[in-house]
Amino acid sequence: MTLPSLHIGDLVARLPIVQGGMGVGISLSGLASAVANEGGVGVIATPMIGMYEPDRASNPEEADLRALKTEIRKARSLSNGIIGVNIMCALTNFAELVRTSVREGIDVIFAGAGLPLDLPAHLPEDQRENTHTKLVPIVSSGRAAKLICKKWLKRFDRLPDAFVVEGPKAGGHLGFKPEQIDDPNFALEKILPQTIEAVHEFEMQARRPIPVIAAGGVYSGADIVRFMDMGAAGVQMGTRFVATEECDADIEFKKAFVNAKKEDLRVIQSPVGLPGRAVGNVFLDKVKNGLLKPHKCPYKCLASCPQEDGPYCIAKALMNAKRGLLKHGFAFAGANAYLVEKIVTVRDLFCSLKEEAARSRAEAAARRYIESARQYMDLVTDSAARYRLEAKQYLEQMQAQANRGKECARQYLDQMHEEATRRRENAREYLEQMQEKVSSTLQEYLPEGRRTDPGEA
Ligand SMILES: Cc1cc2nc3c(=O)[nH]c(=O)nc-3n(C[C@H](O)[C@H](O)[C@H](O)COP(=O)(O)O)c2cc1C
Repeated sequence: MTLPSLHIGDLVARLPIVQGGMGVGISLSGLASAVANEGGVGVIATPMIGMYEPDRASNPEEADLRALKTEIRKARSLSNGIIGVNIMCALTNFAELVRTSVREGIDVIFAGAGLPLDLPAHLPEDQRENTHTKLVPIVSSGRAAKLICKKWLKRFDRLPDAFVVEGPKAGGHLGFKPEQIDDPNFALEKILPQTIEAVHEFEMQARRPIPVIAAGGVYSGADIVRFMDMGAAGVQMGTRFVATEECDADIEFKKAFVNAKKEDLRVIQSPVGLPGRAVGNVFLDKVKNGLLKPHKCPYKCLASCPQEDGPYCIAKALMNAKRGLLKHGFAFAGANAYLVEKIVTVRDLFCSLKEEAARSRAEAAARRYIESARQYMDLVTDSAARYRLEAKQYLEQMQAQANRGKECARQYLDQMHEEATRRRENAREYLEQMQEKVSSTLQEYLPEGRRTDPGEA
């Protein structure tokens, strides 16, 4: 199995793929249920969820909660898989959206765009101790994950069930300062391991895993494999799910992704005070050039929005985009949106992701085999060279030894020769001495007249 399942507490998604919540109507029950049916985690986004309710302007809180209930129930009727909701902390009705989602039996709440430090406080009272719903903060750093763990432990005696760590390549609002977005120190490849490490000490404390899910720029099956090899328990993907038939946005919104070129993707400063990544267009050009007039705020959706003091209403702009009116709005999109070539079904997308992941695993295995064959070859070549060198050194040693032996033998021969010469000389001297001795003895014993000169004898 190339892609393992994703476990968040007792929830098990067959595939480790979470569809990122995409607000203002981009991911509702249609997309969420299609993703859940394929074994991923489908996510309904709550920002402006009540946009189609007739009383959204006059009665925003109730309209949103009514629409939320409808969307959760619709998703449940379309799928038995895992369904979550995405609730931005900055939403004015954050607490009520949390409570309603839990009462509706939602499987997971993903909470980002700010630190959800008080998320557990908004659980319905009767479900605080033992809720089926998993709580998953979305963070942009290990430090934020640690802070949430500490605060939750202290205030609520509980820890998050998982984390999503979202890097600066994501679409939508970004949890980074503008200058951090292209800084490699804040890349997902950096903040993922930092988050895994930060969460680890709390896993030890809780004696249960706290999975970390990687998001932001995860586009292909190969990307999924890469981030999972870095320790992610799964991935969250937004951009890739926009260009699906089941995505709840208008076809024009999806086409903006298909037609986007790399240079069209830009980071904008959203009126809510955060940077965001979007597909550049005429509307955003007008914003940049200060051509849009301050607006009236009919929605009061975001706590951090300057409302009438902002250059435009982001909810309205995103709603227009969701409806396909891109002249009057814009599409949030991830940095890889320019890679989108066509609109496919969620099922086809899952098939491609699985195939790409399998191919990537196979290619990685092949690369590993080739590398180990190369290392073995290097080793054999090295040892052959070493053996050759050793043999040459041994030969030289033997030759030196033989030369030394020859030299010794020659010296010994010379010594023997000298010795023989000396001995011959000694013998000759001895002989002469003996001859002298014989002749002198003879002289001594011969009668006087017969004595001769010793030389004659
Ligand atoms: C059109 C769009 C709308 C989004 N809206 C939200 C949102 O309402 N809340 C949120 O937490 N994230 C939002 N996101 C971020 C996604 O949930 C996801 O984490 C992100 O897009 C992942 O990066 P990727 O697009 O490169 O896959 C949005 C992204 C896109 C593209």
